[in-house]
Amino acid sequence: MADPITRDTFASVYQGQIPWEIGRPQKVFVEVADQVAGSILDAGCGTGENAFFFAARGHQVTGIDFVEEAIRRAKQKATERGLPVTFLLKDALTLSEWTERFDSVIDSGLFHVFTDDDRRRYVAGLAHVLKPGGRLSLICFSDEEPGTQGPRRVSRQELQAAFAQGWTIESLTRARFEVIPNLKDLSFSEGGPKAWFAVARRH
Ligand SMILES: C[S@@+](CC[C@H](N)C(=O)[O-])C[C@H]1O[C@@H](n2cnc3c(N)ncnc32)[C@H](O)[C@@H]1O
Repeated sequence: MADPITRDTFASVYQGQIPWEIGRPQKVFVEVADQVAGSILDAGCGTGENAFFFAARGHQVTGIDFVEEAIRRAKQKATERGLPVTFLLKDALTLSEWTERFDSVIDSGLFHVFTDDDRRRYVAGLAHVLKPGGRLSLICFSDEEPGTQGPRRVSRQELQAAFAQGWTIESLTRARFEVIPNLKDLSFSEGGPKAWFAVARRH
């Protein structure tokens, strides 16, 4: 089983090169924006680029991340851009304890962080915070991405298994993550790390 990526590991990334900090939303979310409805939870929001994209389209958006520096920067950007996103310091593994409910959840690079056990806990939490009929849109590293740098790779079968009960996977397609140019000490496929993009509807 893969080792968990700890909060300290993520906190140290926010002190240096942040591969996912591209200064705009991930392209996959722009492409499916019309299919994302109502209030949105951005789980593992980082500094909020995907959250800001949906807020600018008129959605009520809440972003959560467990790294203080990420939330501090996200709040600063919200002030600078005048976009009313709620950013909370919160562990995504505690979603089952939350009283908030959302029409949609987006996950850009969080699911692939978790161990098998935490993955089950996270998916149960997603089902808890999503209203019945609500949709999760998720992009994670794919097992088709070569090498071992970066996060854990996820297979199509693992995604199908994770959302086998209580969910309908509406689409599961190949995609690419966008990362910053000129990454130091990290190399991924030309065109960006290979990814899976899943849209799953909670029953
Ligand atoms: C790959 S980054 C992606 C950030 C953002 N979604 C984006 O696309 O720019 C993953 C983020 O998930 C956060 N994260 C990891 N584990 C978490 C957890 N258990 N609860 C909340 N946030 C978590 C990290 O701090 C990091 O900001």
